[in-house]
Amino acid sequence: MTASPDQTTSQAPLDVLILAAGLGTRMKSQVAKVLHKLDGRPLIGHVCRTAARLNPRRIYVVVGHQADQVKTAAIEQLGADQAAFVTQSEQRGTGDAVRAARTELGQAGADSTLLVLSGDVPLVRPEALTTLFEKHCAENAACTMLTVRLENPTGYGRVVRDEAGQFVKIVEQKDATDDERQIREINAGIYCFDRRKLFAALERVQPTNSQGEYYLTDVPEILLSEGGTVTCFLHTDAREVSGINTRAELAEFENLLRRNTIRRLMVESGVTFIDPSHAYISLDASIGRDCVIYPDVSIEGKSVLGEGCLIRSGARITDSRLGANVTVKDYSIIVDSEVASNCSVGPFAHLRMNAKLAEKATVGNFVEVKKSNIGRGTKAMHLTYLGDATIGEGTNIGAGTITCNYDGVRKHETLIEDNVKIGSDTMLVAPVTVGARSVTGAGSVVTKDVPPDSLVAGVPARVIKSTKKD
Ligand code: UD1
Ligand code: CA
Repeated sequence: MTASPDQTTSQAPLDVLILAAGLGTRMKSQVAKVLHKLDGRPLIGHVCRTAARLNPRRIYVVVGHQADQVKTAAIEQLGADQAAFVTQSEQRGTGDAVRAARTELGQAGADSTLLVLSGDVPLVRPEALTTLFEKHCAENAACTMLTVRLENPTGYGRVVRDEAGQFVKIVEQKDATDDERQIREINAGIYCFDRRKLFAALERVQPTNSQGEYYLTDVPEILLSEGGTVTCFLHTDAREVSGINTRAELAEFENLLRRNTIRRLMVESGVTFIDPSHAYISLDASIGRDCVIYPDVSIEGKSVLGEGCLIRSGARITDSRLGANVTVKDYSIIVDSEVASNCSVGPFAHLRMNAKLAEKATVGNFVEVKKSNIGRGTKAMHLTYLGDATIGEGTNIGAGTITCNYDGVRKHETLIEDNVKIGSDTMLVAPVTVGARSVTGAGSVVTKDVPPDSLVAGVPARVIKSTKKD
């Protein structure tokens, strides 16, 4: 029986099961493999994101090692509604991992297709999975697996075929004969199963192999022996379905992703990289036309840069928004912050926790801005800490100014209005307000509100005269 993909899709709903319980001993790490990061996101996050793009009925994640952290990473990507978790308390192999989901999936209704993904195969694209699913439905198969031919298949399960080219079985590297190890077609660890047939076959899987594990890879052969249709979808992009088992592979993937991202930004977005091999740009970052990125810049998370920005060496921009024509000078850090057009930041500046710079503001050398709003055209050029502050337009913050925002227990706010001149080395003991057009003398310690149009100085600062011009 052959049904069109559309028809079958509506007949057999799709569920996804992601295997992510293993520690990943080959990573030589205390941290579960699927929590290691690629492009700043845990491997499991990549797989969850891809799974979500298929719009399945439900996404199940099998967790074991560091289950709580793995769950958190999955929920971060999927939201709490779409993710369901299954615990595999002892890791006895991929077959055992799937079997652990039996109860949860048993309630899912009789006819469903289960797409099994590996938490350590992060780059597979939704298009390949859709094709696999469609082929599976069209052939009404018991199992359809994604395979690929590799130059170097070492470590992977090999796909054994008979002389007619028909699928016979999968044999793991450790159990393979010398002849079988010559086979270059490998199992990518990605399969569609008829859910009911899968769980029936899993009952017959035995741990009679060199690793003493319950292999999911024994299931296709069992299904075949029971008269089920087992087919392979030979994919052409080997890299896309490669797994990550070692740190060396993780680094290769990181490199590959980075090169692709930077190439795309150069070719499609018109971004200049002074040295494309030494820039680190996340997949999700968006960078405007004619931006110039110097070496050793990191742009992380969902950062957005407007057109014509100049980002000098050593800068790190994480989950932040920059308008057009912003200059970020060397070794500045901008995290969770917003910088409007035509601002200048750095060198050695630090913007964090929702620091906001309005247009044409300047934050210079060794200035830290935390959770503060800096008004249009306002300048803080040297050696300053501005925390929990709101600063108006056209104000100048002298070198060495500190908002003393913390009394040891609570944080307090500082308000500095428009066109103020804060003298060098002023301490603003919050909560405190400095009125518009006022001036503080060098070395002032401002403990009380300063009215508009006044000059204050001293420790503690007192009003000396009015700054009003008649
Ligand atoms: C597996 C396949 C192999 C295939 C390769 C593709 C088996 C027996 N072998 O080998 O044919 O070529 O993937 O990448 O399936 N996991 C659990 N519980 C366990 C064991 C593993 O959840 O008890 C999870 C791991 O966390 C991982 C995934 O299953 O995300 C794959 O396990 P891994 O040990 O990496 O399998 P491979 O040896 O790579
Ligand atoms: Ca693997």
